[in-house]
Amino acid sequence: MDDSVRRHYLAAMSIEAWERRELPPQTGDAPGDGSHDVPRLGWTELAREVSSCRRCPLHTGRTQTVFGSGDPKASWMFIGEAPGAEEDRQGQPFVGRAGQLLNAILFAAGLKREEVYIANVLKCRPPGNRDPGDAEVCACEPFLARQIELVEPRLIVAMGRFAAHNLLKTDTPLARLRGQRLQYRGRPLVVTYHPAYLLRNPIDKRKVWQDLVLARAVAATP
Ligand code: URA
Repeated sequence: MDDSVRRHYLAAMSIEAWERRELPPQTGDAPGDGSHDVPRLGWTELAREVSSCRRCPLHTGRTQTVFGSGDPKASWMFIGEAPGAEEDRQGQPFVGRAGQLLNAILFAAGLKREEVYIANVLKCRPPGNRDPGDAEVCACEPFLARQIELVEPRLIVAMGRFAAHNLLKTDTPLARLRGQRLQYRGRPLVVTYHPAYLLRNPIDKRKVWQDLVLARAVAATP
């Protein structure tokens, strides 16, 4: 019914018309502007904070955020770069072609996708899959840091140069980071190639096997 007609009938019946008002933010709402203390958030609040995030301009181009998926208490945590087109559409990490290869890598390592935790450095897709910018990484960093704290993995696998460099705060070439027992904030970390790189350079897939052998040994170390 047209609003003016509705008002006319209500007035005729001496009923005061209701107006819809925007409510001020309620306690517990996620403002998305960085005002929440991310290091203290639990899973539910963290996921809500990410989904409403407007800390950097990437929020304007996203279909949805891509939080992470898997066992929230996984022993192995795999970290990639940023969502691609398919991830942006589905809201899940590694569900495109690179994700299919990651599934095969997990299978080869004797791991099921649902028993590891998978996340990215960035939660929003950079337009045209361009490299993430420093300000975007900086804005998103507390989310991944908190995810790692909540999962408490025995081992972090950084997939690709971008994840490795941002987690380790280094620009050492990936080839030199591979094969080493490294650490992120006191947690064991190993580096391997990104599945999207492997799609372009399948010859290096066998090196991933070596990385997984090291990863197993590190994960088994008390
Ligand atoms: N590449 C990434 O780094 N992450 C994804 O989720 C998909 C592709």
